Amino acid sequence: MILRQKNIRSVMVILGLVAGVFILVQCMNNAGKETEQTVNFDAYAGSEKCMSCHKDAYDKHLKTAHFLTGQPATANFITGSFKKDSNSYYYSPDILVQMQKRDSGLYQVIYYKGEEKWPYVKILLSVPG
Ligand code: HEC
Repeated sequence: MILRQKNIRSVMVILGLVAGVFILVQCMNNAGKETEQTVNFDAYAGSEKCMSCHKDAYDKHLKTAHFLTGQPATANFITGSFKKDSNSYYYSPDILVQMQKRDSGLYQVIYYKGEEKWPYVKILLSVPG
């Protein structure tokens, strides 16, 4: 009878150890792993929500590069000029980049030795909407 009780206790201790090791290994396996989280756009407050109490900060924020680069590439947000006399930049005497407003949209057009030649000839900035 005493022998049986000892056996049961031993089995319980071993089971406890196995369970403990299992739990520990699980913890170690999950350590450092990033947990995936879905961010829902509906949860985004938007800067307009801050405006009522932080008017100065909001007005300054509208002029920052951070705000502008997050906007759609439409004419009112693109700060570069599309005017003929101020829409060009020469990277070298052979390479010219020009901002152009065409019927099909707004473009950055790259010219090599005066011709639209490169693989990335036109970068469509936006389609007229
Ligand atoms: C209902 C009014 C209210 C709204 C809306 C609000 N805030 Fe605030 N906010 C406060 C007040 C009041 C303080 C504390 C100002 C202080 O301590 O000088 C504060 C402080 C802060 C600070 C700390 C400023 C500092 O100098 O330490 C930050 C950052 C901030 N707000 C960001 C935001 C953002 C981002 C939003 C919009 C998502 C927002 N707040 C919306 C009232 C508001």
